Amino acid sequence: MSSYLITGASRGIGLAFLDNISSNPNNVVIGLVRNVAASEAKVASWNRSNIHFVQGDLENYESLKSAATATAKITGGSLDYLIANAGLVEGGFDSFSILGKDPEKLTASLTRQFNVNVTGNIHLFNLFMPLVLKGTVKKVVTISSGMGDMELVRKYNISEDAPYSISKAAVSMAVAKFSAEYARDGVLFLAMSPGVVGTDVYADLSEEDQQKLGIMSQKFAAYAPDFKGPITPEESVKAVLSVVEASSVANGDGGAFYSHLGKGEKWL
Ligand SMILES: NC(=O)c1ccc[n+]([C@@H]2O[C@H](COP(=O)([O-])OP(=O)(O)OC[C@H]3O[C@@H](n4cnc5c(N)ncnc54)[C@H](OP(=O)(O)O)[C@@H]3O)[C@@H](O)[C@H]2O)c1
Repeated sequence: MSSYLITGASRGIGLAFLDNISSNPNNVVIGLVRNVAASEAKVASWNRSNIHFVQGDLENYESLKSAATATAKITGGSLDYLIANAGLVEGGFDSFSILGKDPEKLTASLTRQFNVNVTGNIHLFNLFMPLVLKGTVKKVVTISSGMGDMELVRKYNISEDAPYSISKAAVSMAVAKFSAEYARDGVLFLAMSPGVVGTDVYADLSEEDQQKLGIMSQKFAAYAPDFKGPITPEESVKAVLSVVEASSVANGDGGAFYSHLGKGEKWL
């Protein structure tokens, strides 16, 4: 039996993690969500007694602290896997020169995404670390993004989604820093790209944004000619979990940033 905490379990990739992992009745699975009632309603028809929800907002430190206390009550004080999936994905296909025309909006976007995707996760890790250290598996997985890979950006001129990409590059560094501190305790910190996944992130785009997405997709195609478009959340979590299972501190994976396709593989 393993215990898991999944952030952002209300929808998208996080909900698919919740479904995949809770399908094994031996696992205890806790979803950290902003709206517990809505999340409970969403999974009610699954009839799985191994699913629990705790309230938490990555922008609210006290809520994360309460979530750690509530999680410890459910698990008896330990946690095997922490999956830091929640993220603020503020789409935006414009490059810096365009975004810079509205400096206040650009500052707000940079700040918001840094607050959620970086600062929020750092607090989350610190608050849950006492539980993880008492767990038997000791794996902390952060869902980052290939958009935060500097080599990809510079070689294929991916000027789109800059504030988001910066926050993802930063959280990958936070993962490496936590690994530098905790690998000696046997805790595996891993940043994982989930691939391009068909979630709400790409829903309801305006015609203009769809055209811009098309331009970005052409750059992706130059990087990965075999890329056939978004995968499903279910496909993504299956792939991510298999890489997580194959990774360990002993193998030198601590603090690494891998793709859902595996170590050293392309992002899509
Ligand atoms: N989809 C992709 O192609 C793709 C590619 C690369 C990386 N990713 C990463 O994968 C992760 C999941 O993406 P997704 O596509 O499933 O996104 P999504 O459909 O937009 O879902 C985002 C999740 O994060 C939660 N969240 C957002 N802000 C939060 C906050 N302040 N506190 C707590 N939870 C918060 C949301 O909760 P609410 O329901 O309460 O809003 C939701 O559960 C993200 O980290 C994203 O950056 C996605």
